[in-house]
Amino acid sequence: MKNIKIKKFQNKKNKRKLVCLTSYSKNVAKLIDEFCDLVLVGDSMANVLYGMKNTHILSLNTIINHAKSVKEGISKSLLVVDMPKNSYKSINQAKKNAKLILKKTKCDAIKIENNTKNLKIVKALVGSGINVMGHIGYTPQFKSKFRAEGKTLTEQKKLINEAKKIEKAGAFSIVLECISKRTSLKITQTIKIPTIGIGSSAFCDGQILVTDDILGLSGFYPRFVKKYSNFEYLIRKSAKMFSKDVITQKFPTNKNSY
Ligand code: KIV
Repeated sequence: MKNIKIKKFQNKKNKRKLVCLTSYSKNVAKLIDEFCDLVLVGDSMANVLYGMKNTHILSLNTIINHAKSVKEGISKSLLVVDMPKNSYKSINQAKKNAKLILKKTKCDAIKIENNTKNLKIVKALVGSGINVMGHIGYTPQFKSKFRAEGKTLTEQKKLINEAKKIEKAGAFSIVLECISKRTSLKITQTIKIPTIGIGSSAFCDGQILVTDDILGLSGFYPRFVKKYSNFEYLIRKSAKMFSKDVITQKFPTNKNSY
């Protein structure tokens, strides 16, 4: 059954743009919650936090532990947790693992990256009362090489079709990752559920970015990212000042001692 938070999120389509960001920890979640409609515990943590070369071997336990932390910082946003690759290879496995995520993290929904084969899984999860967010376009769990999609008419048709099927399977919203402007517009106009874009133009119903990227902390700044702060600079500067203070014995002072 759809909860009230999910309905409120969906009702914003055509009223105002939806604001979504990722978080992997309570401290960040607490700070962004006020400004977000949805916070995603994304499997991007594999690259961004753990330095893995892709998202493929991130474990279910790892994402659950981070989501438990994030939950502590959320009071109003919709909390969505990514299902890691290999945690939803069959309907039974998907149900078991999605239920585990919901039970352990008390999140509102799970997100799965779609490929042509997992529509049945979306349908089965929704059928057992689980709120599912879809994800199409560049889906890092299934595509190894980055490429923007939807530029040709054939691709456009395929993506619109995919979005329609995901909506029909019962997903409450879909992430469109790196899909061309024209195709994002068509998808957003075609389906009733909100489209959340990352690198997919202003035509989507909302936007999501990886928080570490907007903070200027991840070192990953493709053209679809807007860097709002420069934490790389701030952290280096603070570490340098601390180092100097320790070596020159300016820190700690009496004020910092007992
Ligand atoms: O894992 C993630 O952070 C994501 C977003 C980029 C949409 O899936």
